[in-house]
Formats: sequence, C-alpha cells, structure tokens
Amino acid sequence: MARVDEVVDGIYRICTTVQLPDTEFQFNQFLINDERPALIHTGMYGLYEGVRDGVAEVLDPGKLEYVILLHFEADENGGMDRFLEGAPNSALACSALSAILNLSGWNYSGRIEGHMEGEVIDLGRHKLRFLETPHVHHWDSMMLFDETTKSLFPSDLFIQPGDQPPVVTENLGRMMCEYYRQIGIFAHDKPVRDVVDRIEALDPDWIHGMHGGSLGRETIPYFSRALREESVGYTGKLLGREVLPS
Ligand SMILES: [Fe+2]
Ligand SMILES: [Fe+2]
Repeated sequence: MARVDEVVDGIYRICTTVQLPDTEFQFNQFLINDERPALIHTGMYGLYEGVRDGVAEVLDPGKLEYVILLHFEADENGGMDRFLEGAPNSALACSALSAILNLSGWNYSGRIEGHMEGEVIDLGRHKLRFLETPHVHHWDSMMLFDETTKSLFPSDLFIQPGDQPPVVTENLGRMMCEYYRQIGIFAHDKPVRDVVDRIEALDPDWIHGMHGGSLGRETIPYFSRALREESVGYTGKLLGREVLPS
C-alpha cells in the first residue's frame, strides 16, 4: 500500500516502503496534478496496483497525459505499459537517448516522446524542463526541473535509504554518499559533480528524489556539499557485493 502526500503545490509523493535484507528502502513516484496530469517514474511492474491506487487518491489514473521515465530501469518504468494502457490519452516521455537506445528494438509499441536538453513539457501551471545528465548513473539519464515550484526531479541523485518522512530536514549527506559507494550506481565523481554545479545554478526550492524524502532549500546544501566532498564513484562493489578489488 503506497502512502500519498502532497509535498508542494500539486506535486504528490506516492511512496512504497519495502524491507530489503539490511535496510528499509522507499520507491517514490511523483504525481503532478495539473491540466495535463503527469506521473514521474512508475515503480516496478509489481508495484503497479499500489501506485495506481495512490494516483487514484488524487485523480483518475485514466486521465494521465504523461508517464515520464528518467532512465530505463525497472523502478523507473516497470509499470509503463499498464499506466499507458489505462490512460488512452497518455504518452511516455523520456530522454531522446532512452527512446533511441532502450525503447526501440524491443516489443514496446506504445506512444513515445524522446526529449533533449532544454525542451519543456507544459502541463498547465507546471512546466517541466528536461536536463540531459548523461552518466549520472546511466548514459540515457535525465532530470526534470519544474519552473513553477522550482522543483528538481533528480531520479537517483539526492536519495536516502531507510524509512524517511515525505520531507527530510536532517543532514543525511554522508549517509547518502556511503550508500552510493556500497551500491555502485555512479561510475565516476566528475559527471555527478558537474551536475551538482548545474543544479546549484538552478537554485531549486525543492529536490524530489526517487528514494527517501524530498529536500527543501535549507536542506539541499547538506547533500550538495557531501557530493562535492565525498567520493561516490564505483569502488568495486555492486549492491554491497565485492565484484573487483578497489
Ligand atoms: Fe536507477
Ligand atoms: Fe531508482
């Protein structure tokens, strides 16, 4: 059962907490309630019913116009077919690279929009600008910036493991970096730090990560500082398992 909270002005966090062997872990989707409603990340295929019911607490899931994935991975878009099927006027929006690399050449035949840096989806009051952020974890990775609420949707950057409240105010920056070193989702620090600079220039009021709680503007610097001071690049571990000696 997903928990639903409005974080800021029409942006709802739909959160499912699961128990992993060593920690609890949250999978968030963000619903934007606007003239053209959008769902950012779908969660895995198996989470579909819970996420759909979470969406239904706010609006009719059949009215979704955009299902947006920020890179191709099960927790981003495992439920895409089912959300698109249930919403006849919806399209899948993703990076141009996700469309070319990951949604072509398979048996997916749904509606796709691939977007490049700077393009904007106009939802009505909210305007979502695409930022291409290659190698901030995958080469098709992108983020979104909502101009209206100054909200960044960074997918797997700025996350926290554990059972977190909808809005985190604690300094969990070091914990985040340690977690990244354990799971090995970033190859190298440089693309991450370059994106941290770009994000600072956007001066966001909110950051809504895919795992953990959202960060308000007072809390964001804790996490940005940690990403600059601590290494988050690959150390030879994948999901905590030693693959190669570092
Ligand atoms: Fe990911
Ligand atoms: Fe993720």
